[in-house]
Amino acid sequence: MTRMATTSRRFGTITAGSNKDAKHHRSKGEVEQWGDDMKFVLAATTSELANGAMKAVDIEGQELLLAKIQDGYYAVGRRCTHMAENLCDGTLDGPVVTCPRHGARFDLTSGKAVGKAKLMFLSTMPKDLATYPVKIEGTEVFVGVA
Ligand code: FES
Repeated sequence: MTRMATTSRRFGTITAGSNKDAKHHRSKGEVEQWGDDMKFVLAATTSELANGAMKAVDIEGQELLLAKIQDGYYAVGRRCTHMAENLCDGTLDGPVVTCPRHGARFDLTSGKAVGKAKLMFLSTMPKDLATYPVKIEGTEVFVGVA
C-alpha cells in the first residue's frame, strides 16, 4: 500500500491517489497503522473546529489539545507543563495559548513555551509541550501517536 503523505506536524489536504483506504468510512477512535510505530487516530472532523478553536481529545490514553490555527491543524499535550492545568480552558490568541492557572504561554504550532508561569513572586519558564503529527483526509482529522 502506497501513501502519498508525510508525517510532519502540519498537513494540507492529503492526495489520496490510489489509496483505497482513504475512501473507507472510519468511526472516531478507530486506529490506522502508519509506518512502523506511528498510529493515526481519527480525532475530529474539519467542521468541528473553526479557525482559532481548540478541542480536547483523548487518544490512546493521552490527553491532547487539537487546535485549528490559520487553516492548519496542530496537536499538543493538553496538560500545562507547569502544574498540569487543562490548556483547553485557557485562551488562544493567534497560535499562542495562555494557561488559565498561572499564565504560562505556549505556541501551539511548535509546542514551545513562550511565556513564563507566574506563581506568587516566582516566575518560571515551563518545559515545551509534546507535539503530535496531524493529517487531514477529506473532512477527517487524524492525530498520530506512537
Ligand atoms: S499550571 Fe499552567 S501556568 Fe501553572
